[in-house]
Amino acid sequence: MTGLVVAMDGPSGSGKSSVSRGVARALGLRYLDTGAMYRAMTWWMLREGVDLGDPAAVAARCPAPVIVSGTDPDGPTIHVDGVDVAEPIRGADVTGAVSVVAAVPEVRARLVDLQREVIGEGGIVVEGRDIGTVVCPEAPVKVYLTASPEARARRRSAEVAGSTVEAQQEAMAKRDTLDSTRKTDPLSMAAGAVELDTTELTLDEVVTAVLRLVAERGGHT
Ligand code: DC
Repeated sequence: MTGLVVAMDGPSGSGKSSVSRGVARALGLRYLDTGAMYRAMTWWMLREGVDLGDPAAVAARCPAPVIVSGTDPDGPTIHVDGVDVAEPIRGADVTGAVSVVAAVPEVRARLVDLQREVIGEGGIVVEGRDIGTVVCPEAPVKVYLTASPEARARRRSAEVAGSTVEAQQEAMAKRDTLDSTRKTDPLSMAAGAVELDTTELTLDEVVTAVLRLVAERGGHT
């Protein structure tokens, strides 16, 4: 790998997307949202009527959809079988089901392969849950973003029309438990990762902190 890889992990609402895009923009790097790939897989499974309660059925079907991620931090895109799914993958049905699909080892193996293909020779900021631990453990810069449950729920409910902070906090707690207790590649902090608590920080402050880290550890871009 010749280009820089910044691995950005953490739970939902910790600020990963905004921070990753800000860092990629500042450094002229590409940007990959791996959560969007798990969401795209889930959207396709729901559309196909696959029984998500049956991990064997999910595993059997998961090689089929063609998932393509565009990596421009100013306008990331995601297509499944040629369909633009950027909007539907943020819907409540996908959000409610994605942790179950993401827990299936065959789904993870397939999407990790795809993610490594996109990463290629580097020059990219990659956000997810297992980037520093599984997808790209050799990344020279690994960040683990956190924030208080209240701050995370507040941010998410500001993004989702008609939702309350309380409902978001409850839904997030459920997803956190699923994401961090699943058998395959649970959300956890990678060796060598730097933890950044974003609760009291503005977006600019977090981006600046990551850029400082890149300058210290990344060396090349
Ligand atoms: O970041 P997000 O909320 O869009 O992620 C959607 C789901 O996908 C979430 O339940 C965790 C899962 N995910 C994962 O298991 N591994 C990743 N690298 C990224 C997301």
